[in-house]
Amino acid sequence: MKRELVIVIDFGGQYNQLVARRVRECNVYCEIYSYKTDLEKIKEMNPKGIILTGGPNSCYEADSPTYKKELFELGIPVLGLCYGAQLMMHILGGKVESADVREYGKTEVIIDKTQSPIFEGVSSPTICWMSHFDYISKVAPGFEITAHTADCPVAAAENPEQKLYAIQYHPEVLHTAEGTKMLSNFVLGVCGCAGDWRMDSFVEESIRQIREKVGKGKVLCALSGGVDSSVAAVLLSKAVGDQLTCVFVDHGLLRKNEGDEVEAAFGPEGAYDLNFIRVNAQQRFYEKLAGVSEPEAKRKIIGEEFIRVFEEEAKKIGAVDFLVQGTIYPDVVESGLGGESAVIKSHHNVGGLPDCVDFKEIIEPLRDLFKDEVRKAGLELGIPKHLVFRQPFPGPGLGIRIVGEVTEEKVKMVQNADAIYREEIANAGLDKSVGQYFAALTNMRSVGVMGDERTYDYAVALRAVNTIDFMTAEAAEIPWEVLHRVTSRIVNEVDHVNRVMYDITSKPPGTIEFE
Ligand code: XMP
Repeated sequence: MKRELVIVIDFGGQYNQLVARRVRECNVYCEIYSYKTDLEKIKEMNPKGIILTGGPNSCYEADSPTYKKELFELGIPVLGLCYGAQLMMHILGGKVESADVREYGKTEVIIDKTQSPIFEGVSSPTICWMSHFDYISKVAPGFEITAHTADCPVAAAENPEQKLYAIQYHPEVLHTAEGTKMLSNFVLGVCGCAGDWRMDSFVEESIRQIREKVGKGKVLCALSGGVDSSVAAVLLSKAVGDQLTCVFVDHGLLRKNEGDEVEAAFGPEGAYDLNFIRVNAQQRFYEKLAGVSEPEAKRKIIGEEFIRVFEEEAKKIGAVDFLVQGTIYPDVVESGLGGESAVIKSHHNVGGLPDCVDFKEIIEPLRDLFKDEVRKAGLELGIPKHLVFRQPFPGPGLGIRIVGEVTEEKVKMVQNADAIYREEIANAGLDKSVGQYFAALTNMRSVGVMGDERTYDYAVALRAVNTIDFMTAEAAEIPWEVLHRVTSRIVNEVDHVNRVMYDITSKPPGTIEFE
């Protein structure tokens, strides 16, 4: 099946993955490439459209990211956003200058050319998200201005004959009220994409491709119970049935009852045929973690021990042909393989596995998908909603939600506190609206009173954040009465906890996790 493709050329801006996601929300498949990608490669991919993203530089400065002028002469529609718009003008003979004041935040944009294909069905004025120091003071020859704001003479411009479009604001962020409409006008209208990228066809096509690739081969999958590995495993099982074996390592750092829940869903009693093997390695992990308090050291130990356990299990299974990994598209982009905004993140859940298993090839069936698409694929595959919409849970598990030394007793404390917190958040109907929330165990002990007795016990920290991309996050405003109920239940029900604190630090300077 030949997929329609729109390419996002990444100039280092913070919203670049969002651009690709919004395009995919229009049911158009889209990939991100760095501005350093060769024009020849772009041409080979034969995209239906190209979008240039924002970026932190000034396009008129010598070393700033740029692109060959020929990009605009391919006859392929190009949409420049923010830096991308300025660069388009700069390269094609317009003028970009530094503004006296930065235009930042929600801004009223007045549309001058309502019949522009980008603004079809968009109201005027319309609220858009601006974030720029530089501005386009003169459009390039052949362009006309299609929108402006009080401070910005060129909020949008176009050269319809050449199919070139420039937008100074960020249609990809939700603050731009009609941004999705504008992007869909570009990809479906201007580029003429059919918009037939859908999860049912993805699932069907993946199953076909996996069957073709795997043949009669043996396949091994590390299943964590998280969304990505669960969807990958079920996809593989639909494709190759009992040629697949899934190994689930219970490292004793999962949430309360989680190991049993994973087993119930994916084990022999569950709905899938996964040849599920559960390895109860809890004590091994606790022993390795004894006496270690430094966070990075704990992460390392958990990661290495995970590999050792998996290796032993894989040896029992013997040589396999394929190893499945639940890599998803943001992992690809963040490890620098896709776009420009490379944040190298080590993936503790899977890192190192390939070295310890005797296999011929890796299969990454979700490599092209964003998280929300993985969830859609999961629903398509019939995986229950509570598994598909699970919150993110780090590979090292509660090991990074216990400050200081990890012990079995502390794991129990944080599991029980977290279970109460999750239950009350769900009872208050907040579980769908808060991004990520959990309890962590601080390493602080302090004096309290319980009945007539003096206690000297631990403090639990509650965390709840809202985030779009997990790079930045804001503390969520959990109603006081909910916090109050959670607190009194935790101090009453969880042994050795006598204090509860609510962490309102944003990220940065904090992190989401509490280690
Ligand atoms: P931080 O704490 O870095 O977390 O602000 C950002 C997001 O990443 C998750 N996280 C991890 N996920 N392995 C994972 O799979 C890890 O080692 C890991 N560390 C943090 C965290 O839960 C949050 O969603």
